[in-house]
Amino acid sequence: MGNNLLQGKRGIIFGALNNMSIAWKVAERAVEEGATITLTNTPIAVRMGTTNELGEKLNAEIIPADATSVEDLQTVFEKSQEILGGKIDFVLHSIGMSPNVRKKRTYDDLDYSMLSTTLDVSAISFHKMIQVAKKMDAISDGGSILALSYVAAQRTFFGYNDMADAKSLLESIARSFGYIYGREKGVRVNTISQSPTMTTAGSGVKGMENLFDFSNKMSPLGNANAEECANYCIVMFSDLTKKVTMQNLFHDGGFSSMGMSLRAMNQYEKGMDEFKDENGNIIYG
Ligand SMILES: NC(=O)c1ccc[n+]([C@@H]2O[C@H](COP(=O)([O-])OP(=O)(O)OC[C@H]3O[C@@H](n4cnc5c(N)ncnc54)[C@H](O)[C@@H]3O)[C@@H](O)[C@H]2O)c1
Repeated sequence: MGNNLLQGKRGIIFGALNNMSIAWKVAERAVEEGATITLTNTPIAVRMGTTNELGEKLNAEIIPADATSVEDLQTVFEKSQEILGGKIDFVLHSIGMSPNVRKKRTYDDLDYSMLSTTLDVSAISFHKMIQVAKKMDAISDGGSILALSYVAAQRTFFGYNDMADAKSLLESIARSFGYIYGREKGVRVNTISQSPTMTTAGSGVKGMENLFDFSNKMSPLGNANAEECANYCIVMFSDLTKKVTMQNLFHDGGFSSMGMSLRAMNQYEKGMDEFKDENGNIIYG
């Protein structure tokens, strides 16, 4: 049930692919809270995915666009203002993709042209989006721009690969642009660092099921799911967070502040049993 937190606001949601996508949940919650929105994703994702279904359900127009193309982004902001009847109050960047991860290239054997694509799609697209919007003066004063990140931006996680570098850049862009856009127009720019979540992009991470379980056992509140992430996004789009900007906000059940939890330690002990010899000595080799 909505609380009219976004009543009368206009928004653009990038990255709803299917009903597991975090962006999908954010779109649903935004409309529930009284916003009108447009949806956008790559032309191929729009053709192959189920974004159209969401568009029909929410009465939201879909504008196909590659978020790495400045021209496409200009179209998104132009059309969205036309369709929604004014400047945009909030934008969600929910985009991530690494060809190195997809092709199973390890971090010590990266393909550099693929790395460029990872950075362009997953991070620089955020800069392009904000720069385009600012040049077009498409965001209303006090508007809110958000991107989704992961704790691997700060700490090393097995298998997250070049996406870790992309997320570090993404969070840096939020700070750098947050300063400029805040000072000039009162526009907030933040990232939300979300728990591992079972989505199409999430499933691409090596050992995702174990990572998900470990993270859940380490977090006092457990992993945050996509619906909970959507709720946090709504608060960040609302007028309740007018002075929050240039932040990376952890939405992870407490994971990022933990060192070791009892539940994770118990699990670890169970794992160790397998590596003991008949005398109960741990085999390290
Ligand atoms: N799933 C997780 O565990 C997790 C955790 C923390 C952060 N995140 C972040 O959340 C965001 C959303 O991912 P998700 O987990 O909902 O997965 P998802 O696969 O549903 O969403 C990723 C989206 O990126 C879109 N995309 C890819 N290339 C694009 C391009 N060139 N232009 C425009 N869109 C493009 C895809 O079409 C897709 O809709 C990503 O930034 C991801 O890194 C995910």
